[in-house]
Amino acid sequence: MLIDLKGKVAIVTGAGRGIGRAIARTLAAEGVTVAIIDFRQDLLDDAAMEWTEAGWPGLRILCDVREAAQVNAAVGAVNEAFGRVDILVNNAGVASGARVEKLAEAVWDANFDTNTKGTFLMCQAVAPIMQRQASGRIMNAASFAAIIPSVGGAAYAASKSAVVQFSRVLAGELGPFNVTVNSYSPGMIPTEMNGFAKLPDARQQRLLDTLTLRQWGNPEDVANLICFLASDQAHYITGASIDCSGGKYATQFPSAAYES
Ligand SMILES: NC(=O)c1ccc[n+]([C@@H]2O[C@H](COP(=O)([O-])OP(=O)(O)OC[C@H]3O[C@@H](n4cnc5c(N)ncnc54)[C@H](O)[C@@H]3O)[C@@H](O)[C@H]2O)c1
Repeated sequence: MLIDLKGKVAIVTGAGRGIGRAIARTLAAEGVTVAIIDFRQDLLDDAAMEWTEAGWPGLRILCDVREAAQVNAAVGAVNEAFGRVDILVNNAGVASGARVEKLAEAVWDANFDTNTKGTFLMCQAVAPIMQRQASGRIMNAASFAAIIPSVGGAAYAASKSAVVQFSRVLAGELGPFNVTVNSYSPGMIPTEMNGFAKLPDARQQRLLDTLTLRQWGNPEDVANLICFLASDQAHYITGASIDCSGGKYATQFPSAAYES
């Protein structure tokens, strides 16, 4: 199967670092013009250097996805520069939490503002462009926490579960316009967000024991899924929620297979 994304235009949010950066890089290497959105200028400058060195076309836009005016301006800038938006990846996310009785209202809001409202605002800004084109692919970052949440993760898990249901509704609404909308759930990919790689060995092992493949994932594993979902070959997949987590808890005790 040859995935051909040449000439397409993508927006990837939170693409300054981590999984988002790998998604943007992988799409760019496939010939996609990528507009990188992030709210940190230092990360955008770093991405600009990589794009210049590689000779990839694209844009870097400073934008906080929690702010409607900034989102509308960013999407408008991409539309003005390239005349279309074929692919939208809502990757920007934050994770913070505490047990419910100690969970500050501000922490609850922080998770929902970025993870859920940011995704909604971006989709609302891009949808009319995709409707006009009668084509488009939207992929929204949920999390394994939307499948099985962790103690202390109520705000994050609830905000990501909301992304899954939001994506299904939007898939229904944009189906008549040949626009697909899916959510995806990464799991166990060491990044600066979760600091897995810096945990003591015993704690790392405990987490790895939850995985069928018993190994950390790479940001590129998610990026490859996104490339497929963005391709013509994935035209019949919409309203789905796809798990990319090394088979986390595919069975109750995945480590049993390694012990026997
Ligand atoms: N790493 C994992 O194992 C894992 C697991 C489940 C879900 N996810 C999800 O994948 C996505 C990427 O995670 P990551 O581990 O690469 O995180 P990360 O913290 O390394 O990267 C997040 C990026 O989003 C940007 N960002 C945050 N808030 C923003 C805002 N308001 N506006 C614009 N940009 C903003 C940050 O500057 C950063 O560049 C997130 O949505 C996360 O919830 C990751």
